[in-house]
Amino acid sequence: MLNDMKYRVLLTGGSRGIGKAIALALSGKTERLYLVGREQSALEQVASELAGVDVVILAGDLTDATFQGRIVNAVAEGGGVNLLINNAGISDFSAFEQQRPENIERLVITNLLTPILLTQRLLPMMLRETQAQVINIGSGFSYIAYPGFAAYSASKFGLRGFGQALSRELADTTVKVRFFSPRATKTDINPAAVNWLNQQLSTAEDSAEEVAQQFMDFLSTDRAEYQVGFPEKIFTKLNQILPALVSRALYAKLPVIRRAMAFSSINS
Ligand SMILES: NC(=O)c1ccc[n+]([C@@H]2O[C@H](COP(=O)([O-])OP(=O)(O)OC[C@H]3O[C@@H](n4cnc5c(N)ncnc54)[C@H](OP(=O)(O)O)[C@@H]3O)[C@@H](O)[C@H]2O)c1
Repeated sequence: MLNDMKYRVLLTGGSRGIGKAIALALSGKTERLYLVGREQSALEQVASELAGVDVVILAGDLTDATFQGRIVNAVAEGGGVNLLINNAGISDFSAFEQQRPENIERLVITNLLTPILLTQRLLPMMLRETQAQVINIGSGFSYIAYPGFAAYSASKFGLRGFGQALSRELADTTVKVRFFSPRATKTDINPAAVNWLNQQLSTAEDSAEEVAQQFMDFLSTDRAEYQVGFPEKIFTKLNQILPALVSRALYAKLPVIRRAMAFSSINS
């Protein structure tokens, strides 16, 4: 699809982790980058590593409607974007019955409501582009709902549903909506309890740079969805066809997941 074109990109969560790695991997293909995160100094650091890219730093809280308005104004003044990457996200590993209601609310607002609203605000401009795309960053938990991640899974399943519906709704326009899902990745989003759990369960973990490379491969195709990791893809298929089998496999892991949840509650 948009293989040879230079992108004008709005990337949320570009200050660190997967977002930062995507910003760097995209640099050769980017004309202008609107880089969004909360921490000005972290965004400036990323910008300093992006030679030859016109970077516009937008520091603020994406869940704030006023800040969303500022983003849209900045993009409009700069001539629009043809690639919106909704990457910013948070997690909160916890036993559901102990999870704070305000944490649940923040998860759903950050991971689901905010990308939906930001996409809606930017869509009129994107529809005027000859070709444009929205890429939502999901998770393996967009496909496999996982113990200890009930609210997070809900937000990521929701984001996948939103994107799929919108891609169908926009099928007769110039805007594509696609979905890219990393598996466990070594970034700050994962607290010690999740890192411990991943070790105990021998969960494969990628570096942010490896994920960004796979994102670039995905970007060069016109696939609607991409999930990182072959075993994870198989597990997803199995979950669609025989969910009881996946439930049984996760039941066997529940004692260690419960230990990690207990560890998490002590440390939070
Ligand atoms: N790491 C994993 O294991 C993993 C696996 C699957 C999917 N993912 C998904 O990949 C995406 C990136 O995660 P990551 O691992 O790179 O996490 P990360 O290292 O914690 O980075 C998260 C990014 O989101 C930004 N962000 C969060 N809340 C924000 C808000 N309210 N306003 C503005 N910016 C906000 C953060 O910026 P500031 O801190 O500066 O605000 C940061 O740039 C997320 O959607 C996550 O769900 C991650």
